Amino acid sequence: MRLYINNKKEMGRIAPEIYGHFSEHLGRCIYEGIYVGEDSAIPNEKGMRCDVVQALKEIQVPVLRWPGGCFADEYHWKDGIGPKEKRKRMVNTHWGGVVEDNSFGTHEFFELAKQLGCKTYVNGNVGSGTVQEMSEWVEYMTFNGVSPMADLRKENGQEEPWRVDYFGVGNENWGCGGNMRPSYYADLYRRYQTYVRVYDPKKPIQKICGGANVADYHWTKTVLDTCFDHTPEALHGFMDGLSLHYYVHPEGWEVKGSATEFDEEVWYKTLSKALYMEELVERHGAIMDQYDPEKKIGMVVDEWGTWYTVEPGTNPGFLYQQNTVRDALVAGITLNIFNKHCDRVKMACLAQMVNVLQSVLLTEGDQMIKTPTYHVFHQYRYHQGATLLSSSLVDEKEVGCGEWKVPEVTEAVSEDEEGFITITLNHLATDEEAFVDVSLAEGGYKVMEATVVGGEMHAHNTFEEPEAVTEKPFDNYTEKAYGKGLSLTLPPSSVTLLRLQKIGD
Ligand code: AHR
Repeated sequence: MRLYINNKKEMGRIAPEIYGHFSEHLGRCIYEGIYVGEDSAIPNEKGMRCDVVQALKEIQVPVLRWPGGCFADEYHWKDGIGPKEKRKRMVNTHWGGVVEDNSFGTHEFFELAKQLGCKTYVNGNVGSGTVQEMSEWVEYMTFNGVSPMADLRKENGQEEPWRVDYFGVGNENWGCGGNMRPSYYADLYRRYQTYVRVYDPKKPIQKICGGANVADYHWTKTVLDTCFDHTPEALHGFMDGLSLHYYVHPEGWEVKGSATEFDEEVWYKTLSKALYMEELVERHGAIMDQYDPEKKIGMVVDEWGTWYTVEPGTNPGFLYQQNTVRDALVAGITLNIFNKHCDRVKMACLAQMVNVLQSVLLTEGDQMIKTPTYHVFHQYRYHQGATLLSSSLVDEKEVGCGEWKVPEVTEAVSEDEEGFITITLNHLATDEEAFVDVSLAEGGYKVMEATVVGGEMHAHNTFEEPEAVTEKPFDNYTEKAYGKGLSLTLPPSSVTLLRLQKIGD
């Protein structure tokens, strides 16, 4: 097969936020996974685990969404401010029925974002909260003057307002966020977003409207129809993003399937379901194009990833699952799709960051391991903020098992500000190598870095064997004369990164 890269044809900027993450008050994501409290024996900075923060900095987390998820629509932010001993203890009814002591609240979230050096995406409560509550939260976080909420923030030790980069007006309001119908939610969106005040025009808050579940195109259409009354001018300051949620359940929502025990057919079924993201982005995108042809509203895929049956013996409400080479491929395939649709997809958040669903990190007591998905995010970090280049695969065959057929390889290519080219390739077949002949429209490049993440399809990291799957050097390539391209041999079930630089640089 041939990979043709037209490095003279730029296709748009890849928003760094496509590489975003999601942290909910769910299971051991926030508590134990990220936040252990200042008195913990686990090394921490202001309660945040140092090992976790350090690992996350290495993948350059661009944006973090919090506090949910379903949790967001029953979160009352005032419960999570002020002296910790006085904070309300409540039941986390959505997730495991455990006690939520609110020790991680607004101040802690901004401290975490500061330590990570990332943008902030706060998700408000429409399902069970009032307009006043939402409006006061925004005032508390962002107003830099004299006002009841700004004064309260100062009393609680934070003089300066924080920066809220994105604010979500509800979550999954078609389901856990209130079981609403789209026109009803859209009317509420119109109302609630009015009071998400931008107090400092130099620090605008991007407003994210709650979008569809999977292929619910009716939701997308009705919400946009109700919100815009067909006047594109209405867009300004009204809606900056529309969300989309899609999880890969290999065996469907009811059964889901094991994270580590699966056969070849389920491998291909899972990857085929990951590839379905492209159809979702294109079809929801086509509806958005009708209302917003200039693509001012970003598609925000703020929940995506694999969702399996929980690990045996763990709380079913905690959604704790292992992560294999299969997850590395799901991550690589999905991120390449987002890269290739960077004209519309402006943010995406993997669900979830630590110990929940397709996590990049898993913890157990004071131990932490990086998952195969982590290593893919590390490879792909070079795409953040780079310019997508035109690229296509030619003469590619299909691989698969039974009815589940997938392309052998998927790819995305970008060029960064320094002129380095990044190529990311996913090889989906489990049983044979793939030969790829890469050519560049304008030659003169050599390989400066090449790594691969892969292995046997079930391979995964454990606390006993934390480095079974890591990012390893890749050297199975030859360079063509005059730097016109490469010949690659990709190992089965693998994600490969190649970085090219101009010869002579
Ligand atoms: O990520 C887990 C849950 O999945 C989120 O809380 C919810 O928004 C979605 O249904």
